[in-house]
Amino acid sequence: MSDQPLILGIETSCDETGVGLVRGTTLLANAVASSVDEHVRFGGVVPEVASRAHLEAMVPTLRRALSEAGVGLADVDAVAVTAGPGLAGALMVGVSAAKALAVALDKPLFGVNHLVGHVAAEQLENGPLTEPVVALLVSGGHTEILLVEDIATSATLLGQTLDDAAGEAFDKVARLIGLKYPGGPNIQRAALEGDPAAIRFPRGLTSRRDLERHRYDFSFSGLKTAVARWVETAEREGRAVPVADVAAGFQEAVADVLTRKAVLACQERGISTMVLAGGVAANARLRDLTRERCAAAGIELRQPRFSLCTDNGAMIAALGAAVVERDLPPSSLDFASDSSLPVTQVLVG
Ligand code: KG4
Ligand code: ZN
Repeated sequence: MSDQPLILGIETSCDETGVGLVRGTTLLANAVASSVDEHVRFGGVVPEVASRAHLEAMVPTLRRALSEAGVGLADVDAVAVTAGPGLAGALMVGVSAAKALAVALDKPLFGVNHLVGHVAAEQLENGPLTEPVVALLVSGGHTEILLVEDIATSATLLGQTLDDAAGEAFDKVARLIGLKYPGGPNIQRAALEGDPAAIRFPRGLTSRRDLERHRYDFSFSGLKTAVARWVETAEREGRAVPVADVAAGFQEAVADVLTRKAVLACQERGISTMVLAGGVAANARLRDLTRERCAAAGIELRQPRFSLCTDNGAMIAALGAAVVERDLPPSSLDFASDSSLPVTQVLVG
């Protein structure tokens, strides 16, 4: 194991400062500092607040990762960093730190794609992937179905949300029913007491006509509006809002449409492995329903543990390790971060 290069991964695309250390597909350290508490009172991530928090957390998080792995900076063989997509200012903090480290250590630097990193994280859980795989990526910033032909070089976007990301929908609906940010865990908790069949909320882009044009795409804005209308009507009529039932019905609608389309993508593309990743993949109902539907369709489901599902540096190190293993040329030291880096670009030049 120790003859594989030691890869340092840095992630700062949103509100988590992540530094990870990986050799091959072996996880050595995964240190994360989250600024989520600083965003609670705004009800969502404030980019300037996130950038500043990355700047403060970068060095302490790096130190924590090194000590967790029991290695020194001199042991690092290559540095990988999220080049995009993500918040522009937040990305710049990580890219600047990674460049400084690469120059100081005189080691190669790899600017990699955050979305593909989420998929690479799975390799730290269950070993090397057998591509091609379909990845269902669901988080606060993205909701996508990817076809990953080769983790180090090639990914294709099959479908994505046309409006809100799934996690964003969780966060917005939580606010509508008086639950705090981040909405995902709070809705999940409330839904435990509710009946998922009590209120049937709409499943976006699932009509026959929509499926023709937007086969693997998602839309959550109609669902969010439906919840808002439901709550307004109840309040206007002086009825108490059954928070648990609304939470359960909403969660069911999201889980239903996500899993249905991801399974469809596997079946129609002849892919037998699905990877479920991203912060919303922590949702217990989504995990259960995906497992159930994959099993029924004969699809192998792979999913990383929760700490590897949410944004972290280890996933970036894992992707860096896959890239290094292929002997791909490093990024040039003057590459810029790209807040809308397309998923097809696994590694920046
Ligand atoms: O991947 P992530 O940490 O950051 C982004 O790249 O966005 O995902 C954060 C999102 C938040 O919107 C949060 O509400 C959601 O993941 N989330 C959940 C759960 N835990 C976190 N959503 C549903 N159920 C959960 N248990
Ligand atoms: Zn992410």
